[in-house]
Amino acid sequence: MTKPSAQTKPALSQDELKTLVGQAALRFVVPGQIIGVGSGSTVNKFIDALASMKDQIKGVVSASQASTARLRAIGIPVFDANEVEELAVYIDGADEIDQRGNMIKGGGAALTREKIVSAQSRQFVCIVDESKLVQTLGRFPVPVEVIPMAVQRLVRQFAAIGGRAQVRIKAGSTGQEPLVTDNGQVLLDVSGLQISDPLAFEAQVSQWPGVVTVGVFAFQKAQVCLLATADGVKTLTF
Ligand code: A5P
Repeated sequence: MTKPSAQTKPALSQDELKTLVGQAALRFVVPGQIIGVGSGSTVNKFIDALASMKDQIKGVVSASQASTARLRAIGIPVFDANEVEELAVYIDGADEIDQRGNMIKGGGAALTREKIVSAQSRQFVCIVDESKLVQTLGRFPVPVEVIPMAVQRLVRQFAAIGGRAQVRIKAGSTGQEPLVTDNGQVLLDVSGLQISDPLAFEAQVSQWPGVVTVGVFAFQKAQVCLLATADGVKTLTF
């Protein structure tokens, strides 16, 4: 008779990993406070979990219209960023995170508001599944929110440092209609970059005229990463 294999535990799907890490983030929610909430599919899982604590918090500052709608639908008060001085914690996902807590963000087009709310927060808790952990940032194309009249000059500036920048197209559009952000601007997705010095890269690109926000978060890196793995949620601190 053959022994049952040690690997009988079914692998968790990426969606299940996101649910796990969304729930794990509840332990960073400070009762009685206003917290910062980012956006994306992993944050949606966190928002769903937050419903169970909604009477224990004062409310949230949200980084996207999509998150705001989801939070309001479950009855959580959403404050304007200008109404609040400092937030104890900001909880958000990422497209990539390295071993030092630097991140690429903006796959969901909300990078500018995400940077604003994270800047207001004492602690950034990043929630990701293990597919997002990288040695060097840059496998995921870097999102950059830009003023439309600067698009072609910025495409050339990225080409000069080895990047291929493309205007992000609105999902489901039949033509080549650019995606317009919550702030009324457009996005470039820049591939082909190996970002070995995230701080220097963020500082350089942020100064290019026409750049609203670069989706490298090094000045506001994560202090904590909750990493969903097949063996459970691991906590990395930086
Ligand atoms: C939104 O603009 C992003 O910064 C998200 O935090 C990031 O794209 C991660 O999204 P998912 O959780 O959907 O992968």
